[in-house]
Amino acid sequence: MEISILGFGTMGQMLAEILINNKSNEITLSIANRTPVKMNDFISTHKNVKGYSDFGQCVKNADLIFLCVRPQAACEVLLNISDKIKPGTYLISIAADLPVTLIEKKFSGKISRIMPTVTSKIKRGITLLVNNSLVNDSDIELIASLFKDSIEFREITDDEMNLFTGITSCGPGLISAILSEYAKSFSITESYNAQLIRDMLIETVIGTCLLSKQQSKSFDQIIDEVATPGGITGAGAAVLRKELPIVFKNMNEEMIKKHVSRSKEVAESF
Ligand SMILES: NC(=O)c1ccc[n+]([C@@H]2O[C@H](COP(=O)([O-])OP(=O)(O)OC[C@H]3O[C@@H](n4cnc5c(N)ncnc54)[C@H](OP(=O)(O)O)[C@@H]3O)[C@@H](O)[C@H]2O)c1
Repeated sequence: MEISILGFGTMGQMLAEILINNKSNEITLSIANRTPVKMNDFISTHKNVKGYSDFGQCVKNADLIFLCVRPQAACEVLLNISDKIKPGTYLISIAADLPVTLIEKKFSGKISRIMPTVTSKIKRGITLLVNNSLVNDSDIELIASLFKDSIEFREITDDEMNLFTGITSCGPGLISAILSEYAKSFSITESYNAQLIRDMLIETVIGTCLLSKQQSKSFDQIIDEVATPGGITGAGAAVLRKELPIVFKNMNEEMIKKHVSRSKEVAESF
């Protein structure tokens, strides 16, 4: 199977690495980037991967194309490749704020939209998946098998994408912002040691998440387990429960505003 990746930024490169690690014997991979120099290291360490500066040249034998450019450039790239794609080629877009219905205006075949996450680099996290009506069960099995053990897919609707992206795909960035502030809040102590605090925080977060997952405990159950009546954790948790809802409400409102303005910009480019 011939696979082309168009756009070799953070996400294009991550998908290329997973595909090569998982399926190097079963696929032929070609990659293209507007700035070709950014592919040099990858191509020099993966001799069987072909690199192109021309998107059209890259896709001419492709059975499967991953569109990994920034959303505002997606339409231009689709127009650029439209007369080079062979019939039956399957397109998978990772661009945020680009619904399947919009891609269908420029591409008439099978289309999936996936929303990857950087945590796939360490085989964790959830990747959201939306398909158009031409995609069938064996296509979905194909995607799952290409990324087996590295990416866990969850099928959703296009309408749910912006909301759930705030958890799965923006999540690593948002959670890091929370943890960064959590860590900084301990710098008021005289014995502040950034590395020690980071290590303690990471182990505690991993432990808390695994406790919830492996023992099927809700977050509220864990709070109850830790917070003894009238105790210290309860005092801290009460502050968080009072203050955080407004913080998260504002966070979600700002992200939705951004989705709306970028969706408009992307739609106008189509
Ligand atoms: N980062 C994430 O966690 C994440 C998660 C889910 C989805 N996504 C989506 O993944 C896509 C890529 O994101 P990224 O994080 O990999 O971003 P990135 O590292 O900034 O890469 C952006 C890519 O788009 C290309 N590009 C930008 N403008 C272009 C143009 N006018 N014509 C052709 N190519 C152009 C860039 O080429 P150059 O190298 O030449 O600039 C680069 O390959 C985006 O659509 C984003 O919405 C990202």
